Parts: sequence; structure tokens; C-alpha cells
Amino acid sequence: MTEKQITTTSEAQIAVHWGEEQYYYPSYEFVAQANMTDPEIYNRFSLENFPNCFKEYADLLDWDQYWTNILDTSDAPCWKWFTGGKINASYNCIDRHLAENKNKTAIHFVPEPLNEKTEHITYQELYVRVNEFTALLQDFCGLKAGDRVTLHMPMVAELPIAMLACARLGVIHSQVFGGFSGRACADRIVDSDSHILITMDTYFRNGKLIDHKQNADVACELAEKDGKKIDKVLVWQRYPGKASSKTPMIENRDFFVNDILKDYYGARVAPVPMPAEAPLFLMYTSGTTGKPKGCQHSTGGYLAYVAGTSKFIQDIHPEDTYWCMADIGWITGHSYIVYGPLALCASTVVYEGVPTFPDAGRAWQIAQDLDVNIFHTAPTTIRALRKIGPDEPAKYNYNFKHMTTVGEPIEPEVWRWYHEVVGKGKAIIVDTWWQTETGGFLCSTLPGISPMKPGSAGPGLPGIHPVIYDDDGNVLPAGVGKAGNICIQNPWPGGFQTIWGDRQRYVDTYYSRYNKDPDSKDWRDWPYLAGDAAVEAEDGYYRILGRIDDLINVSGHRLGTKEIESAAMSVPEVAEAAVVPVSHEIKGKEPDLYIALRPGLTGDSEQAQIISDAICREIGKIAKPRNVWIVPDMPKTRSGKIMRRVLGAISNNTDIGNVMTLANPDIVEDIKSIVSK
Ligand code: WT7
Repeated sequence: MTEKQITTTSEAQIAVHWGEEQYYYPSYEFVAQANMTDPEIYNRFSLENFPNCFKEYADLLDWDQYWTNILDTSDAPCWKWFTGGKINASYNCIDRHLAENKNKTAIHFVPEPLNEKTEHITYQELYVRVNEFTALLQDFCGLKAGDRVTLHMPMVAELPIAMLACARLGVIHSQVFGGFSGRACADRIVDSDSHILITMDTYFRNGKLIDHKQNADVACELAEKDGKKIDKVLVWQRYPGKASSKTPMIENRDFFVNDILKDYYGARVAPVPMPAEAPLFLMYTSGTTGKPKGCQHSTGGYLAYVAGTSKFIQDIHPEDTYWCMADIGWITGHSYIVYGPLALCASTVVYEGVPTFPDAGRAWQIAQDLDVNIFHTAPTTIRALRKIGPDEPAKYNYNFKHMTTVGEPIEPEVWRWYHEVVGKGKAIIVDTWWQTETGGFLCSTLPGISPMKPGSAGPGLPGIHPVIYDDDGNVLPAGVGKAGNICIQNPWPGGFQTIWGDRQRYVDTYYSRYNKDPDSKDWRDWPYLAGDAAVEAEDGYYRILGRIDDLINVSGHRLGTKEIESAAMSVPEVAEAAVVPVSHEIKGKEPDLYIALRPGLTGDSEQAQIISDAICREIGKIAKPRNVWIVPDMPKTRSGKIMRRVLGAISNNTDIGNVMTLANPDIVEDIKSIVSK
């Protein structure tokens, strides 16, 4: 058995010893208003009716030219949905709502400081601001359909405005999470070959005004070293007309958006009808090797899928106030803050800051003020709010009908707190399992139809047909209580099209494992490997157990162990680095870092700090290790492989098991004594 398999099996075994949970049923009140209450939907979206069933989703959109072929498999497994069709995402999220809803709020922007007013941007105002910025992108930057633009923006209304302006021209946006470092931004600029960077001077986070402009300078400098020169940096101002960042502007490269926008006052740009399969955006995610993967999402298929799932799983009605407390810099924000809700003409909330500023009641205060009725967050946030403000929700008078949890498995205890305290025992919960790659939800209950089960995501969505394989390629039947690798048997419109510039890696990572005929053009031969371990209960509900590869889920986001290790290796004294996930009460998992220095060197806490800082600089604070343990040597197999399993057991204080097969078994005690100090 390989090292990887050992880790997988043990994690799965622990999990399947959990007991079965009780069902919770949606209230009559919820069902009475739900968008989908007809169980027939599962038959309409059965495998026999695949792929034609997805016409229902496509018909939620306005097409410039209706499609002719629902699914083109000629370049399997790079699926093309709705070919022959032409569509514009910006038009579908804005223009088509104007006739009846121009005065309706599209985006509620809530600044973090309490003394700043919430901005209620109507669909008409969104239309105006997107058009003017589109004109700027087109004329001032010379951008056209198919070009890539990197965005490195915080949580402000200007972020969806910039995304929708790109989409209006068919320009492919690549938003980098605002909390990521300049280095991480540079890597994505280089990989996507962007020549324009859109950023913001400053933003508020946890009471502090952060200078964000300095990251743009780092990104441009590093990208140029890698041969990719940024021609223009567009800098939005947190306070228009006022310089709030100390970082100087670089002449002829950096431009304040507010200055240039004056030239485009009143400009209108017709939305460009894009082929359905044209890429809408790239979203980078961690892979098992150091290089992040640019997940390429389509225009027609993606938009149809997020509109459909926003309607049926999020139960969004146009009159709802919907708040997804994720960051737009992650896929959750793209699909379920921006594209899904706006395609349905809902009012979506964009909150600048953290839910605990100035205190643990902030989220509930915002919910009360805006009368939010659909709320969407992650287990890591739920755990944090439960810990520091368990009594806060009761103090506020809000009324949720629906809540979502996403990003990692939720502990049933935490689920129940979410249900009883945050949801006041009334709101239904959907636990949505999906990924950056998948564009939209894969497993979840249908809120108006199926009961909820704490800790389980639920069955496959209509039109999503999961299957669990063991390592030998056998399908595990429902209810056998064994964990395996969850796959999806069929393509779906929201799935990514490829990894930007690396089709082979796309095929190898997601399809090779269970594909028997690499030349096949039949979708049935290409199960999609999600990379998670899961168990299917007798009722067809899936419980997700975690990643099967070298990835760590920190606060609901994937970090590659290799990414963190290579950042550590950038410190010259470091000879070897190994990262393991360690359980954390709030974040779920946290990286714990082991370091062996070059021969002859001994480390101290200062050295450890330098290594930790290097990781924050290279990747961002999200990857900050819990501890940097400087050890005399790594536990190794006879072939020289670092045994991360052993380090993981030491970090988590669990049974290390047999170490006699190691080349250096004595090191284990040495490391244990360092960690227990
Ligand atoms: C990985 C994907 C989905 C958007 C946010 C994260 C884990 C996601 C759940 C859930 C259990 C979950 C999986 C998945 N995950 N949702 N409801 N229950 N695990 O996107 O960074 O691409 O991470 O997050 O391990 O593979 P991502």
C-alpha cells in the first residue's frame, strides 16, 4: 500500500463509525412558497433523460441565438454545452431586468465601518456603472473578447461591476482572492497571460484600513520577472477622489479608475453575443503540485447551471434579499453572490468585512437591517460565531427562511446549532457539496422536497448522478458503510471546460483514473473524479469525508501541501519541508509545518518566524502554519519518501502506528519530544 492509501483508509474508517443522524423536515410554510416542490423533477432529470433535461436550465436565460446542440462530446472529456447558441452573461444579469425592475436593488454594499452608509445599487445604476466601466476597458485598455484580465479586488461593489463589464465584452476575468499575496497574484497573471490588472487602493478588514495597492506593485514586478509585463493597472479608490493608500502610483502604468471614468460618462456598450462555450472566467484552485490550476468556466453552460441551482437549491425568488457571506474571490462568490442571484433578479448582499467586527453580532445586525431571508456561509464561520457569540442571534430580529452550509463537512453538533440558534428552528438548511471545478452544487437536498440530515450533503442534484468507486474500480452499493472515491457519472452544464492551457493535466487529474477508453467520445466512459472520499447511506444521501489527495481544507478552502512546502523552501536555510493537516476547532484544518534545515544549521524561533512569514508572503495569511517545527530530520521510508502520515499523527496526537519500516525509526521519538514541548 502506498502512503496515500494508508491515510485515506484510516480517515474513511473513522468517519464511517459515526452514527446515522435523524431527519429534519422542512416547514409547511417553507414548502408552500418553495420554487420546487415536485419530486417528479428527479425523473425528468434521470440518466435516461440526460442530457436533454438541462434544456430546463438553459430556458431560464435569454439567448441572442438559441442553441442547436445540447451537448457536444466530440472533444471528450472537454464537454461543450448548448453549442450553436449565443449569449451574454452581463445582459442576462442586468439588461433583461430593466424593463420591470430597474428601481430594484441589485447589490446592497455594506461597508465594514459602522459609520459608513450601506449603498443600495439598483439594477439601473448597475447598468450605468457597468456600461461606463465596459467602455473604459474597451477604449482605454483596448480589451476585446477572449482577452484575459486579472482582478485582485476586495469585497466591494466594484468587484461585481468589473466582472460584469468584462463579461459584457466577452473578456475572460480571473479574480484572485483579495487576501492572497502579490506573489500569488503574479503567478495567476503569468499563467493566464493578462496585461491588465484591476485592483483597489485600500479596504477595511477587521477595523483596519488595509493598503492593498502595494500588492499590485509586487505582482507586477514578479510577473515581469517571469516575462509577463502588465501594461496598465486600474486602481479603484475606496474613497473616490481621495488617496487613501501610501503606495505611490507609477506613471503611465497605474491609473485611478475614477479619473479615467470621467471620460466615459454616459457611455453605453452593447453586450457582445458570445458563443455558449466561450470562456466566461478563470478561477484558480490548488492542485497537488505547486502550480495552481486555472479552472476555465463557460458562458452559457455555467450561467444556466448557476441560475438553475440558485432557483431550486437556494430557492431564490426575485423579492428575496439574499446574503452569501463568502468572498467573491472564491467560486462560491462567483456563482452564488454574483452570477446566480443576479441572473434571477434578486438583491444580493456584498459585505466588505469580517462577521465579527466590531462584535459577534454584526452578521445578525446586517441580516436584520436588510431583512435578509436567505443566508449562506461555511462551517468555519458557523463554528467561530458559535464559539464567540452563541447568544447573539437571539438579540436580533431577522427572519431566515433558508440557510446554506458549504466548503467542508459540518459536524452534526454545529449543524444543530446553526439550525436552532441561527435559523431559530425555522430556516431550512442545505448542505451543498461542490468544488471550484464544478461551477455549481453537485450534492444537496432539494429544500422543498427532501428532509435534511445533519452532516450529510444529501443526494445528487437533479441531473447529477454520483457513484462511489473503490480503489479497484468497483462501484460500491448504497448503504454498505464503506468509503470510496466519489465520482459523477455524467457531465453537467456548470462543469469546467479544462485547465487553462493544460488539457492533459485536466484529463489526468479528473478523468484518467476510471476511464477505460481514452479515445471514447461517449460521456458514459468518463466518470468525473472529484478527489473526495465519501460514503453513501441507504437513503442515497452522501456524506463527504474529505480530500483523498495532498490537499488541506483550511476554513473551507483548498491549499496544496506542495504550495506551502515550496514557499517554505524559498528560505535558503531550509533543506526539507513537510506540511500536514491538523484539526482546528474553527478552521477545520490548519497546516502544521515540519522543517529540516541544511546540514550544520540549528534553528531557533526567529528562524521559524522567517519561514512562517515567507509562506504568508508567497501565498497569503490563509496558509499561515499553526507551528513551524524545526526537526533534526524527517521520518523517511527506505526509498527516501517523507512519511507525512507519521508527522500527521504526531501533530494530531493520534496513534502513530508501526514505524519499524522507516529508514530512521528513532527520529520519531525526537520529533515527538520537540512537538510536546
Ligand atoms: C472541496 C472543494 C465549493 C465551494 C467552496 C470550496 C470540500 C465543499 C463541501 C460540503 C463537505 C465539502 C470538498 C471539495 N467541500 N463543500 N458541503 N461538505 N465537503 O471550493 O476550494 O474548490 O474546495 O471542498 O473536499 O472537494 P474548493
